[in-house]
Amino acid sequence: FQPKVLAGRRVLITAGPTSEKIDPVRVITNRSSGKMGYAIAQAAREAGAQVVLVSGPTALDAPYGVNRVNVESAAQMQAAVMAEARQADIFIAVAAVADWHVANASDSKLKKKAGGQPPELQFSANPDILADVAQMTPGPFCVGFAAETENLHENAEAKRQRKGVSLLVGNLAQQAMNADTTELILFDTQGARALPALPKLDAARRLIQEIASQAPLTTAD
Ligand code: C5P
Repeated sequence: FQPKVLAGRRVLITAGPTSEKIDPVRVITNRSSGKMGYAIAQAAREAGAQVVLVSGPTALDAPYGVNRVNVESAAQMQAAVMAEARQADIFIAVAAVADWHVANASDSKLKKKAGGQPPELQFSANPDILADVAQMTPGPFCVGFAAETENLHENAEAKRQRKGVSLLVGNLAQQAMNADTTELILFDTQGARALPALPKLDAARRLIQEIASQAPLTTAD
């Protein structure tokens, strides 16, 4: 038996990678599988929440009862999130959003010419979706993720403060990316607390209990 700790609450989640266009047949993306975000969406739904899952391209099926919005680029993810954020009580940013998009993306396929130079891509910064939502007043209770390869504690706590979020969930990228289990560390104003290594769905259920105990009961609007 799982108590419905999020009954009636609206939870907005981002998951998966983003995919940034180079030309009509080529993209820049990353190795995020979406598993952690989808597990959190399932756990939130099991806990009684109304869940909107804004997802980059993944191979996963939407969890039962979850309303999925499919996007590709960070700009599309930002637009989809902003359309929902005002109605959300809780925002959990799990997506591995690309830091940059290709500023000189081509509308026609880039062609290789004999003896020619390779194309030169230029990059522009993507919006920081989590930081933007964290600045909304009133706004949802915001939870961020940090996948780091080293100095997890320092980087995660610094990121929590920089992004202005209440709770930041850290994990080691080399362990978590594409894996079925994860070891989460929770960073909040009280400090850092490690959860045990668990299958992602069990880790997601623990995280949802934690979020439910921290998120204020008032709605965003
Ligand atoms: O800065 P970094 O990408 O490491 O921060 C990770 C957290 O910020 C994650 O919660 C991620 O979903 C979110 N993020 C975002 N928009 C970005 C970059 C990261 O929402 N452009």
